[in-house]
Amino acid sequence: MHIIRRRGWEVTERPVTPEHVVLKRRSLLKGATAMTILPGAALFSRAARADVPVNPAFKPGRAVTEEKYATTYNNYYEFSESKDLWRDAQALKQRPWTIKLDGMLKQPRTIGIDDLLKQVSLEERIYRHRCVEAWAMTVPWTGFPLSQLLKIAEPLGSTKYVVFETAQDKVMSGLDAPFYPWPYVEGVTIDEASNELAFISTGMYGKPLPPQNGGPIRLTLPWKYGFKSGKAIVKITFTDKRPMTFWEAIGPTEYGFWANVNPAVPHPRWSQATERLLGSDERVPTQIFNGYADQVGALYADLKNEKLFM
Ligand code: MTE
Repeated sequence: MHIIRRRGWEVTERPVTPEHVVLKRRSLLKGATAMTILPGAALFSRAARADVPVNPAFKPGRAVTEEKYATTYNNYYEFSESKDLWRDAQALKQRPWTIKLDGMLKQPRTIGIDDLLKQVSLEERIYRHRCVEAWAMTVPWTGFPLSQLLKIAEPLGSTKYVVFETAQDKVMSGLDAPFYPWPYVEGVTIDEASNELAFISTGMYGKPLPPQNGGPIRLTLPWKYGFKSGKAIVKITFTDKRPMTFWEAIGPTEYGFWANVNPAVPHPRWSQATERLLGSDERVPTQIFNGYADQVGALYADLKNEKLFM
């Protein structure tokens, strides 16, 4: 029989952080009316530069979370079940870093992250992020649309799913916990992966992505609960079989494959109607698809008998 154990994100949250003034970063949006081409730059710093153009199409509709909260309150089970892992995560070396492109591709291969970064156009997008635990943040991510990576990978027409596997490194002490079905694997359909919102992040707040937030490269899917956005990606597999994903394997009655944000569908053990904003601790209503229904609603219009919201 499957044993249900309380995981870090299910225990009562740590004492709340004090009130603070939320940084608005209005300057980022000012003058961001046109996208420009990123000028040539040293490769490592290409992961995120302060002068990467902000894509004005993605307005977050709420204040950006202050960087110190987004970078010190993390979920990263490979390191720890606690949120307080950012110091430990600094031990994860960010270079060299390769990503294996595998499965139903014209040419399976392994690509170095800096080689990949040379082939994409970086931009900044300010996205809302909603964790299944009912906390939320708003983050300026630097990166590139996942669709650009699909073009580089060249999947076969029969590909139905894109599966992301994340790093297992000796510095990750959480990997010793036998309960979890490592490696961390999450996946989306090829249509979801091709959607304009699906993003690969290599930076945040105008800097290279910190290890605790998934550096050097992570997935960012703002309309889904955060657990779908795997950190520290080392392998991307293209397949026609729906993968068994990390959280679905652990708790199939609580975490599903789709995991789209929906305030009307509670987690079996708590409500999803509202969310707590990191930093201010304000509680605000949760929105269907985390507020991105216009961009992604059509992806699910024809899906019947699927649990889209857990
Ligand atoms: N990726 C890996 N590899 N390991 C994890 O434990 N946690 C997920 C997701 N990606 C996780 C992961 C969860 S539950 C959330 S909410 C987000 O990362 C948190 O991202 P953040 O720490 O950058 O806020």
